[in-house]
Amino acid sequence: PTIYAITPTYKRLVQKADLTRMSNTLLHVANLHWIVVEDSENKTSLVGDLLRKTGLKYTHLNVHETENITSRGSRQRNLALKWLRDNFSVNDSNEGVVYFADDDNTYSLELFDEMRYTKKVSVWPVGFTGEMRFASCKVNELGKVSGWVVVFAPNRRFAIDMAGFAINLKLILSKSDVNFRLFNVSRGKQETTFLQRLVTLSDLEPKAANCTKVLVWHTRTSEPPNIQSLGDPNIES
Ligand code: UGA
Ligand code: MN
Repeated sequence: PTIYAITPTYKRLVQKADLTRMSNTLLHVANLHWIVVEDSENKTSLVGDLLRKTGLKYTHLNVHETENITSRGSRQRNLALKWLRDNFSVNDSNEGVVYFADDDNTYSLELFDEMRYTKKVSVWPVGFTGEMRFASCKVNELGKVSGWVVVFAPNRRFAIDMAGFAINLKLILSKSDVNFRLFNVSRGKQETTFLQRLVTLSDLEPKAANCTKVLVWHTRTSEPPNIQSLGDPNIES
């Protein structure tokens, strides 16, 4: 199966650094298609040139977020879902898995091996999220996900960060009306609101040694402090 990694990205000082680090990771992953969606009115040459130079298989999209929505990157993710639904059909023989991979996280290569054979939705722990060293899934003796190990909003049906799950492409194609809600969803509830419409808890496939290993980290790149001048603006593009 092909892994479709969906990455929203937006202009900021550290953007090129983040995308460079991420593309260096993805270059090690076989059979991966990177769908990069810029939060911008036009596609920028910074992102376009970077993508071209990587040699990765990619699709470059853009949609600008102009409203104050609840969750960063969601309009961009929805456009990528639309692209998948426009380009593939449930009846195709294409096998795929969809993963929402933000541009600032840290991804181990093992993670991609774990997610590749997802039947419906696979899940695993995420480092530095859920107000914990890592947020995780509870797995029972039968190897089924029975709940969550989180501090933040533990009553969520799917108490998981965006980086903690992957979805079979056919499920995305068959549930063609399931998208991220842009409004009326409280902060941190985006993932559960989306997943609730796709699967039930008993459908989940625990990965990463029954959710005991951390293979992805919700890292954040801080803005470098005290930057006096951007100097030659071309250095970024
Ligand atoms: C957490 C979750 O890990 C995100 O998946 C979720 O979208 C976000 O919270 C949220 O609910 O707002 P966090 O690290 O706080 O993530 O968010 P960012 O990494 O700043 O943004 C998530 C993605 O959206 C990134 O790929 C970022 O480049 C992109 N983004 C961010 C935009 O496209 N536009 C923006 O204005 C901001
Ligand atoms: Mn982030």
